[in-house]
Amino acid sequence: MATNNIVDERKLAALYSEHVNTVVTRHDLALERIGTGHAVIFSGAPLPVFLDDYDYPFKANPHFVSWLPLIRNPFCYIVHTPGHRPRLIYFQELDYWHVMPSDPDGFWTGYFDIDIVHSLDEVARHLPEDRDNCILIGEINDDAHAFGIDRINPSNMVNMLHYERGTKTQYELECMRAASRRAIRGHDAAERAFRSDQSEFDIHLAYCRAVNHVEHELPYGNIIALNENGAVLHYQHQAVEKPNEHRSFLIDAGARFNGYASDITRTYAREDGEFSSLIQRFETLQLELVSEVREGVEFADMHLSCHLKIAKLLDDTGIARGDSDDLIETGVTSAFYPHGLGHLLGIQVHDVGGHFGDDTGTIVDPPSGHPFLRLTRRLESDQVLTIEPGLYVIDMLIDNLRGTPGFDMIDQNMLDWLRPYGGIRIEDNVRVLTDGCENFTRDAIAVGV
Ligand code: GLY
Ligand code: MN
Ligand code: MN
Repeated sequence: MATNNIVDERKLAALYSEHVNTVVTRHDLALERIGTGHAVIFSGAPLPVFLDDYDYPFKANPHFVSWLPLIRNPFCYIVHTPGHRPRLIYFQELDYWHVMPSDPDGFWTGYFDIDIVHSLDEVARHLPEDRDNCILIGEINDDAHAFGIDRINPSNMVNMLHYERGTKTQYELECMRAASRRAIRGHDAAERAFRSDQSEFDIHLAYCRAVNHVEHELPYGNIIALNENGAVLHYQHQAVEKPNEHRSFLIDAGARFNGYASDITRTYAREDGEFSSLIQRFETLQLELVSEVREGVEFADMHLSCHLKIAKLLDDTGIARGDSDDLIETGVTSAFYPHGLGHLLGIQVHDVGGHFGDDTGTIVDPPSGHPFLRLTRRLESDQVLTIEPGLYVIDMLIDNLRGTPGFDMIDQNMLDWLRPYGGIRIEDNVRVLTDGCENFTRDAIAVGV
């Protein structure tokens, strides 16, 4: 994996010690809460394809990845016992059909007692003997992988870990800066491919090549949407054929570094004109929202603030006419902007714990009428989240307004003008600070890696 210039490896290694200490402390406290002696964290098993003899791409358990940057290794186990060094049971299957895992290597190895094993029977010998005093965290589809541990994913422990994963260690922040830098290389290449009128598929290939990811290493399927396809929020195709005309391009694509994700969206117009002016206005709106990020802010309030801004933009541009409160209450803003303002980001793209009010897992629901808001927490320093307002022509949602006051507020001629461009989304990844935020995405663009 070529990651030159993306990260300072020595700095990363130096930060890892504090990261492991934090992960250890979190597990110590969680085990104390449930009165249990050992945590066993399973990296996962590959998922076989139905009626066939190969597997889906392996996705490691994010709890396992939170300990160390091993993302390709099934059947590994971390054993944590408070007061002892964490142990890694490292599975190195003797398998001539596939590439065998190499010996453990890297800055993280000095922090674990490592047992290399070649069979599941050997795993059993390295697990704590008092299985009744263990909990296991991981996806267990086969009892053989639980080794007699009955308590799997106890919610009172897992909720605590999920809540705490909302705030990142310095090591994780450095990984996430690197993930943004890596993705920006891809975004640069993709924009160039768009401006040379390539197909969605070729733009996608240009992106993957620039970030050095094969497709299944991407944190999520690239959204590479030309023209009206930009209105499909999670557009999942990459058309091989070029469209007759390149008008607009919405790209939502990320990258990974040591298991940590970026999640970045940009929208481009092919020519200068009214759509490029709308993108510019939208960028101003997005940056205003970014400037609201700081410790203590309720993210749900920011989402509602975004609706007010979108209402004003709709009225200013004549796409829909009306007082901002009316445009919101009649459902017009939700028809143009039907998703949440953002979400926690980390090992998972939609990282866990976004609706937790505390570490016991108390759920804080999104405000009524905004079911898709994935983050309802009060912002705290060192949380990493996305800020991703959007504006689209989604006829299914506009049609739902027919026969209601909202429908008459929309200018159908303006809708006809905007529809061929699909939509606009601009998404940055930001770290919350006490008095503002660090913008990983725009910092990466400024560095120009
Ligand atoms: N790429 C998915 C999202 O932005 O949430
Ligand atoms: Mn995205
Ligand atoms: Mn996102």
